[in-house]
Amino acid sequence: MEKYLINPNQKISKISKDIYGHFSEHLGRCIYEGLYVGEDSPIPNVNGMRCDSVNALKEMGIPVLRWPGGCFADEYHWKDGIGSKETRKKMINTHWGGVVEDNSFGTHEFFELCRQLGCDVYINGNLGSGTVQEMSEWVEYMMFDGLSPMAELRKKNGREEPWTINYFGVGNENWGCGGNMQPEFYGNEFNKYNTFVRDYSGKPHIYRVASGPNADDYNWTEGVMKVARRHMNGLALHYYTTAGDWDHKGKATGFDEKEYYQTVTKAYKIEELINRHLEIMNRYDPEKRVDLIVDEWGTWFDVEEGTNPGFLYQQNTMRDAMVAGLTLNVFNKHSDRIRMANIAQTVNVLQAVILTDGEEMLLTPTYHVFKMYKDHQKNTLLGSYITSDKIECDKLSMPKLIESASEDENGVIYSTIVNADLHEEKEVKCQVADTLVASVTAEILTGNAGDHNTFENKEAVKTQEFTAFTKTQDGFVAKIPPCSVVKFVIKK
Ligand code: AHR
Repeated sequence: MEKYLINPNQKISKISKDIYGHFSEHLGRCIYEGLYVGEDSPIPNVNGMRCDSVNALKEMGIPVLRWPGGCFADEYHWKDGIGSKETRKKMINTHWGGVVEDNSFGTHEFFELCRQLGCDVYINGNLGSGTVQEMSEWVEYMMFDGLSPMAELRKKNGREEPWTINYFGVGNENWGCGGNMQPEFYGNEFNKYNTFVRDYSGKPHIYRVASGPNADDYNWTEGVMKVARRHMNGLALHYYTTAGDWDHKGKATGFDEKEYYQTVTKAYKIEELINRHLEIMNRYDPEKRVDLIVDEWGTWFDVEEGTNPGFLYQQNTMRDAMVAGLTLNVFNKHSDRIRMANIAQTVNVLQAVILTDGEEMLLTPTYHVFKMYKDHQKNTLLGSYITSDKIECDKLSMPKLIESASEDENGVIYSTIVNADLHEEKEVKCQVADTLVASVTAEILTGNAGDHNTFENKEAVKTQEFTAFTKTQDGFVAKIPPCSVVKFVIKK
């Protein structure tokens, strides 16, 4: 039997709601079709935003949305996406799929989407191919409340009041698609562009995100922190999980056990990446003023057969749910230093929470994990520890059980446990220190690793009430099935 201790006396950090953030790019069918169908579409919409996607995301508790990219951000010229839709520039999205980008979804539409979702706004500026003036004017357009050319232009385009930007990214992946720069060079560019991202009076300070490292590129973190740490609020790590290597990522469905274990152990590597990048950041910033952001993460597999390779459309199985469950537990455990994370990407791209097909929509296993975990948002992380043997795969290793526990303002404790083993049920004895437990309820997402929802069977994978546990005086004893994510709600 495994031992699980939750210590409500050890209150570690506040879990930022934005750890549960999402990312939407002008890529494939994420924005166009997945989120935005246009006012004239037969698909039910409000001001062009499709109602089914918006409602599902609201129910899942989406706290913040990043836009317009990704690699697209460093090619995006915001003035192409404002004003009358008839006159907006049509162009080819050269980075993603070579399709026509008609710019019908632009700044006003993004703020309208976030308004409908009730979520915070994360805009990513163009440092790679845009000018300092262009970035500066975009911020002025969105946030300035006085007399200025950009504020006047915004008003002419129908928006009197300025908006609020919660996060602003100064470039994206500038080590790659954002300009193939060296870290120190980017650090200087960041400082220059960022100087002209103005905080306008009466508005909250803009939280500035610098383009951070890819996976284990520690050299990037060193160089950027050395040059630019004083002016940034967060540094954005990107980490994608494949089953194979970058050229053969593996299939999203129909994979074997080996590929499953390769995927989950690689996903768990995020723990090491966070620790090592933080170690470098803390050396340059001992007061720990700069947060770690993970504004792109998730699984990246081969595209579904017959789809545009530039659209990055992949199915989503219980394996993805396990990756989501374990990663979110790791993020919770690092909530003292991680302020925001954004899974890539919300609808129809990579590890999506929603897939659409014309007017049809389905919720993926990853969606269900986010919905289960939404209770952690804004809670206090508690000290917790679980015993567990390990999964070893190739040269990587991870515990079979990965958990985190948090407490809300009413003293209710939420514990989420992932059993990543494919065969072994795990018996767990949980004790909540110094606590008389009044009630325990639980919910589970489980299945075979390859199980997924299709447009023919949208509910093959869904959450259910979990009853395979006995409440004890100070906790519970539970049998956690293989390949499952379980949430316990513990009331005192
Ligand atoms: O999410 C897909 C792409 O992955 C993003 O555009 C880019 O930032 C990353 O390489």
